[in-house]
Amino acid sequence: MQDRLVRLEGQAISELEGVEGEAGLQQWKVKYLGRSSELAEILDGLRKLPKDERPAVGKQANQLKARLEGAFAAREQTSRAASLEYSLQEDRLDVTLPGRTLVRGRLHPSTSTLRLIADIWAEMGFQVYRSRDVETDDYNFGLLNIPAHHPARDQWDTFYTKQEGVLLRTHTSPGQIRVMRERAPEPIRVILPGMCYRYEQITARSEIQFNQVEGLAVGRNITFADLKGTLNAFARRLYGEDVKTRLRAGHFPFTEPSAEMDIECFVCGGIGCAVCKGTGWLEILGSGMVHPTVLENGGYDPSVFSGFAFGMGPERITMNLHRIDDIRYFWSNDMRFLEQF
Ligand code: DAH
Repeated sequence: MQDRLVRLEGQAISELEGVEGEAGLQQWKVKYLGRSSELAEILDGLRKLPKDERPAVGKQANQLKARLEGAFAAREQTSRAASLEYSLQEDRLDVTLPGRTLVRGRLHPSTSTLRLIADIWAEMGFQVYRSRDVETDDYNFGLLNIPAHHPARDQWDTFYTKQEGVLLRTHTSPGQIRVMRERAPEPIRVILPGMCYRYEQITARSEIQFNQVEGLAVGRNITFADLKGTLNAFARRLYGEDVKTRLRAGHFPFTEPSAEMDIECFVCGGIGCAVCKGTGWLEILGSGMVHPTVLENGGYDPSVFSGFAFGMGPERITMNLHRIDDIRYFWSNDMRFLEQF
């Protein structure tokens, strides 16, 4: 029995030296000091030994137990110290290393232009009115004086939905009817920014989605002179004090008379270049005096009220401001394009 204890001690101690890590230590503890270890078995079996052997073996076995526990505690301590040392070395913080660069988000060029435009109109007393992207045929066309089968509808290639009479707005103009019906008979001074959709071939000049900023002023004595003065004031704020503008007669079913506004090409100064396609002028918006039928559809009596309206394309304006030659860049999410702004 005494030999067995000596052998057991030798085996346990040499194995303990080779043990690695916390898990290995715990395994060793179970094997040599656990409830079903050989030592526990020996201590358990003491009762069955002849009486005269019992004290000596018992003493030796208990001493062995104490030694193994001591060796275990010591080994555990060196192992912990080693792993602490390791993690201190490993996780060492080098405060002289350069920091990681933070990637900063930025505004989409359309958003910046939209905000710039909204700020200018806000200074001139125009509130922002948000209308809906999904519209009815009636609001998008009928109530704007473009009845079904009217040839003017060809101007707006439309995305229809499966729901009869429901479509994606082709312009922000239907919002005019919505504000008027909400505010009548109060005076109105609003802009209506938002996304519009057209069922078109996507090319460098045309996209199936783009923003518009609609404007609407309704009141008792609004004249064409107000329209002209207001649009000129806007152009001066957007393009600079000495921008040259001109109004050209145009046609929109919801305004009468209608006019398109051009600014002198700021690339060539009016001589004619690729940006203005040789004309010397850049078209920036459509406008006109709100058609009496439209006023009436909005709930305003056209013999008492009058108003002007306009619509512009912020992507077009952004393209001119930044000399962008392809509208497809706006929604293709190419970082090489977006990072330039
Ligand atoms: N809705 C027109 C379009 O999409 C733009 C427009 C022209 C809006 C004249 C107006 C306006 O309010 O008066 O082409």
